[in-house]
Amino acid sequence: QKITAIVPAAGVGSRMQHSAPKQYIELAGKTILEHTLSKLAELDFIHTIKVAISDDDGYFDAIPQIDSRIERVSGGTERADSVLNALLSLADNPPDWVLVHDAARPLVCLSDITRLVDDCLAANEGGILASKVKDTIKRGRTHSEQTVPRDDLWQALTPQFFPYQALVDALSNALENGVTITDEASAIEWAKQPVKLVAGRSDNIKITTPEDLDLAAFLLQKQQN
Ligand code: C5P
Repeated sequence: QKITAIVPAAGVGSRMQHSAPKQYIELAGKTILEHTLSKLAELDFIHTIKVAISDDDGYFDAIPQIDSRIERVSGGTERADSVLNALLSLADNPPDWVLVHDAARPLVCLSDITRLVDDCLAANEGGILASKVKDTIKRGRTHSEQTVPRDDLWQALTPQFFPYQALVDALSNALENGVTITDEASAIEWAKQPVKLVAGRSDNIKITTPEDLDLAAFLLQKQQN
C-alpha cells in the first residue's frame, strides 16, 4: 500500500499572539515544524511527505529539507483547503492512503502512528487517533446549562488516516456544500464513511496558545532524552 503523509502548516496561529506563525516558533532547539517533520521522517513506510505552506507568510522557502521525501505545496484559506490542495497535488500519481498530521502536533509518538495505520489497514477502514475526554464537560454560554455525558466523548487528534480517493471526494463535496470542516474525519463522517477511533496518548497536544509552549518544550525535551 502506498502511503503519503500530508502536513498542513499554512496557518497563521492567531491564538498564539506571536510574531511568527506557531509552526515556526523554536522549542528545544528546533522549530515546531522541524520536530513534526523529523518524527514523520522516521517512518519508513511513508512514500512522500507533502507540507502545505502559506504562499504569503514569508516562510515558503524555509522548509527544512531534513528528508528527501519532503515536498512543498501551497496552503489555502482554511486548514481543509490546505489539505485539499495537498491531496490534489498528488492526483497524477495518487497514493492508496493518506496520513494527515498537524504541523502543530510535534509530540505525537511513533508507536501511536503505526498502531493507527496497522489497525486501519487491518480493518480496511479510515480512522483517527483520539483520546477519551477526561474532564467533566459543560454546555452553556455564560452559565452552565448542562453537564454532557462523557462516556462516548473523544478528543480528535492527528494523524488521521484515510483512503486517498475517499478523502478527496469527501473533502471536495463537503467544502462545496459549505459544511464546517475542522478535521478530515468531519468530512468523512459527512460522507457517511467509517471513522475508526484509535486510542492515542493525550499528550499529543496541538500547540495553540502561549501556555502550550512551556508544556510542549518540557515534553519535547523529555522525549529527546
Ligand atoms: O488553526 P489550527 O490550530 O486548527 O491548525 C491546525 C493545523 O492546520 C496547523 O498545523 C496549521 O498550520 C494548519 N493550517 C493550514 N492552513 C490553514 C490553517 C491551518 O495548513 N489555512
